[in-house]
Amino acid sequence: MSKTQVALFVGSLRKDSFNRKLARAIEKLAPADYGFTHVRIDDLPLYNQDFDDDYPAEAARLKKDVEAAGALLFVTPEYNRSLPGVLKNAIDIASRPWGKNSFAGKPAGVLGISIGTIGTALAQQHLRNILAYLDVPTLGQPEVFVQMKDGLIDDNGNIGDDGTRKFLQGFVDKYVAWVGKQRGA
Ligand code: FNR
Repeated sequence: MSKTQVALFVGSLRKDSFNRKLARAIEKLAPADYGFTHVRIDDLPLYNQDFDDDYPAEAARLKKDVEAAGALLFVTPEYNRSLPGVLKNAIDIASRPWGKNSFAGKPAGVLGISIGTIGTALAQQHLRNILAYLDVPTLGQPEVFVQMKDGLIDDNGNIGDDGTRKFLQGFVDKYVAWVGKQRGA
């Protein structure tokens, strides 16, 4: 059984990020033949088109992490009704130089958790738009807009609510089956 490596992007740098907890929960629900590369985005320079001639080391590392993966997973908060700038910066870096888009053709899942009642719906919609342009197919359903509540997910990704666990397991099962199809497994 060959392993599927997933490049995992968390769109928050916050120490106690709810989205990082959600990412951990997804990781724990995934089958044993799935591995996750936690893509580092906190030390990236701000993208500058001058990089295109000679990418800085951190930016080159990001591209390598993405290129080594068979699939992508984005778990992101919503900032001001869109995706956080740090995540957009990472996407811009890995999408360039022109003609060397590291994301092209890699299937992606998109999820998010927020304290707000409509979850991260608008951030995810903006992200899906960007990914479509970058030739990244995204899993359409189930959409995952989680509202954070006390005790819902702990630091280790343990889910404290049966309904949420079942729902997220459903997402993971669908994602795994769909990634397999996209990759021609
Ligand atoms: C937010 N938050 C927020 N929430 C939301 O549902 N919609 C939004 O548009 C915004 N906008 C926003 C802007 C900025 C600058 C901050 C700092 C926060 C609240 C956000 O959901 C909350 O802070 C989450 O806890 C952020 O995710 P992490 O860091 O816990 O993963």
